[in-house]
Amino acid sequence: MDRPKRFIVREGSPRMPAAKKLTSQLAVLTIGLGLVGSLWLFGAAPSPVEAVPHTISLPHPYDPDWPDIYMMLAKKCVGCHRPGTERTDLTTYEAIVEGKIGDDRMVVPGRPEDSALFLYVEWDEHAAVGSGVPRTPEMPPDKLDWLSPGQQETIKRWIANGALEYRLPDHCDITPLTELEFPSAKQCQACHPNQYDEWSRSMHAYAQHSPAFEAFNLTLMERTSGTQGTFCTRCHTPIGTALGENGNRRNIHRSRISMEGITCVACHRRSTKHYKSSGRVPVEPGKLQDVCMYGPFDNGVGGPGIGSHNSAELPYIKTSQFCGECHDVVNPQGIRLEEAFSEWQNSPAAKEGITCQMCHMGPVQGLPFQECDRPLGRAAIVPGVPEEKIPLRHLTNHTFAGPDYSLLPDTEFPEKLDWMYEKDYTDWNALSRYEQETLTELRKKNRYSLRIADEKRLELLSNAADIYVTSPQTARSGQTVNVDVTVQSKLSGHSFPTGFTAERQAWISTIVRDSQGHTIFASGDLDKNGDLRDEHSYAVLANEVQRDRYLLNFQNKFIALTSEGTERSVILSVNRHLMPINILRPADGISESFGRPPIFRIAKGSLAPLSKQSQSYPVHLPAAAGTYHVEVRLNFRHLPPTLMDHIGAPHLKHQLQVVVLKEWCGTIEVAP
Ligand code: HEC
Ligand code: HEC
Ligand code: HEC
Ligand code: HEC
Ligand code: HEC
Ligand code: HEC
Repeated sequence: MDRPKRFIVREGSPRMPAAKKLTSQLAVLTIGLGLVGSLWLFGAAPSPVEAVPHTISLPHPYDPDWPDIYMMLAKKCVGCHRPGTERTDLTTYEAIVEGKIGDDRMVVPGRPEDSALFLYVEWDEHAAVGSGVPRTPEMPPDKLDWLSPGQQETIKRWIANGALEYRLPDHCDITPLTELEFPSAKQCQACHPNQYDEWSRSMHAYAQHSPAFEAFNLTLMERTSGTQGTFCTRCHTPIGTALGENGNRRNIHRSRISMEGITCVACHRRSTKHYKSSGRVPVEPGKLQDVCMYGPFDNGVGGPGIGSHNSAELPYIKTSQFCGECHDVVNPQGIRLEEAFSEWQNSPAAKEGITCQMCHMGPVQGLPFQECDRPLGRAAIVPGVPEEKIPLRHLTNHTFAGPDYSLLPDTEFPEKLDWMYEKDYTDWNALSRYEQETLTELRKKNRYSLRIADEKRLELLSNAADIYVTSPQTARSGQTVNVDVTVQSKLSGHSFPTGFTAERQAWISTIVRDSQGHTIFASGDLDKNGDLRDEHSYAVLANEVQRDRYLLNFQNKFIALTSEGTERSVILSVNRHLMPINILRPADGISESFGRPPIFRIAKGSLAPLSKQSQSYPVHLPAAAGTYHVEVRLNFRHLPPTLMDHIGAPHLKHQLQVVVLKEWCGTIEVAP
């Protein structure tokens, strides 16, 4: 939202005629360039050309500040300031520039100091007494939302420059898509606070923020020389992709709406079936009031009458196919990277008519619920509209818990404040009192939110599978006994794990210890990098520890053909071998005849719906008698440490949690 500062209007400076302004701006530009040039000559780091003012080009006057103003007001004000309410309408350009409060005008072009819009939001906590600048603003009411210094400056500059709209020249009849055409989730928050809260801590909101995703995507971009294009970002940021942001754009350079990932409109601004499409969902552009929101109800009560949007029923939104547009990932060469939807299609749940939404949007994450079991409440709570005008309905939950969780600091996700985009907020002592207070408040809120997300995540995972263990209670020393473990899936909707299965690790750890606590048998334990002792472990490859022969791990593996004609399990599906297994580049061969490129496949290890799998662990008891302890666990980890090394993000390794889903403990009494 915050573009580089261009030029600052000094208070009380008279409005310059446009022609004069242009020439003086050109002068600034030349001086600026000259300065940069000379700095460059003297070896100093070139500073960005700061003084370039925006071009207000007649006869098509426009102001590139307008989009920022519009989005700022949309996120912070229009929930209360809508048409058809007591409050001044701040939803459109016309309403804002023509708006009045009594005799005062909302905006007096050229004179921010006389414009209510500016006077209501202006504040400076350090303002000198008598300066006329208040220490707290009139608006907006929520302290966390007060306009940042940069935002106040933008409003001031925009009004000083004549409060123009951003318009294309008249002869230009192609309207490019801009950020303005996709309402932010923040805008929905005003009337849908519960859906917003749930969504904001969901992995849908995190999809593009994810540092693991960013590192993974950029690694693949580098290895495919960019030919992968927007393949990865099309699902993780459907709006960013629609806006034309390319695949290798860093997150810090993406638009704010792009960083909202699978934002509200990515699901609610779609009127048509798109079928299985590996992303690229067709989101309808348009301002909040201009286009419908599509949802589950055929009798929505919103609409312009109460200054909200029109609603329409989209029965398709309640089907699994709707989720399947993104939850089946097939790459351009036909490799089925993720199969949640395909698995569901063949599942017992599908036969019983149990959809993704029933398990993932009900009150208990992972357990199917019928429509009528859902809590009753209001789908919208609209400021200024009496509650009774909105009917009670059966509501859904938008948390969409999954095994993923945020790897970002608690100051960055789920929420971040606007002023934090404008300065380095990590130096506490350099922060003002307001900044310290709001940062503390933000972290409190974020931690609370993340804790709920954690609880939901564990709830979901605990509904995946159970373990059954048979282990002898007595034995003789020196004997070899079997500890038998069965994992029984409780999940009728898809395999366990599903989705990002090449990385998800769901495994059994079986550890037997003698009475002194020494380990005498271990499977499913971790090496010093925190990895399982499988073919990807550095310690196993370096012969420092033995490969885990009995490992029961439901992770899927990428298998590639090597130049010798043998197959090998690989961590990344792209490498720099002579024999290219570069499955992410555009297809160059005859994938069709194989259904996959001949050089690559995925070995599926996941546990099919409601099925079970067993493993027998032969434990050789040593000569000593005594009580031996057996500990069996079903563990889950969303990403393996080796992957983090391979995508250049080893600093994230310490945040990877092993979640224990089920645990069994027993003893073996060993007689001499
Ligand atoms: C939570 C609801 C809410 C939000 C959000 C909000 N306002 Fe207001 N606003 C009010 C209320 C209530 C009043 C009338 C009481 C008052 O003046 O304090 C008001 C009054 C105003 C007025 C005086 C004209 C009028 O409509 O009465 C202006 C101008 C204004 N707000 C601007 C803004 C701006 C700009 C933002 C966003 C940066 C904003 N408001 C955000 C509730 C809100
Ligand atoms: C991943 C897709 C997805 C995202 C993202 C999403 N929704 Fe929904 N939403 C749904 C589905 C699906 C339903 C209907 C489910 C059903 O009834 O079975 C729904 C239902 C709703 C409803 C109807 C009332 C209720 O709670 O059931 C509202 C209102 C709503 N969503 C608002 C939002 C808002 C606001 C956001 C963003 C903060 C959002 N949604 C984000 C998929 C999504
Ligand atoms: C000014 C208030 C307001 C804002 C802002 C708002 N909504 Fe709504 N929304 C409503 C009302 C009122 C309803 C009707 C609730 C009902 O019928 O029970 C509604 C209903 C919905 C529904 C259900 C539609 C149906 O018929 O099934 C969806 C989905 C929805 N909104 C999504 C959104 C999204 C996404 C945003 C942000 C882009 C948003 N809304 C912003 C007030 C608002
Ligand atoms: C526009 C694409 C898109 C649509 C539509 C979509 N999802 Fe997602 N979903 C994603 C992406 C991308 C992620 C991964 C986010 C992450 O973990 O970083 C995700 C994550 C999830 C997760 C959490 C997974 C985890 O590992 O934590 C669940 C559960 C989920 N989606 C269920 C659904 C359901 C149910 C629907 C249908 C109502 C749906 N999604 C619709 C793209 C989508
Ligand atoms: C019968 C209930 C049920 C149904 C139906 C169901 N799920 Fe799940 N889902 C679960 C449970 C329980 C888990 C946790 C276990 C796991 O991670 O596999 C889960 C996990 C997930 C995950 C995270 C998987 C991972 O391990 O990374 C995604 C993504 C997901 N579901 C998407 C979907 C989609 C999309 C559909 C519909 C096509 C669907 N689910 C249908 C219960 C269900
Ligand atoms: C068709 C949609 C789609 C495409 C294309 C896609 N993803 Fe995903 N991605 C998903 C979904 C859905 C999930 C959640 C699955 C789950 O939780 O099991 C996900 C999860 C992930 C995760 C784990 C979540 C996290 O944030 O740590 C990573 C990493 C990831 N994807 C990377 C990629 C990369 C790299 C690419 C490009 C090669 C890619 N994705 C392409 C839909 C997609």
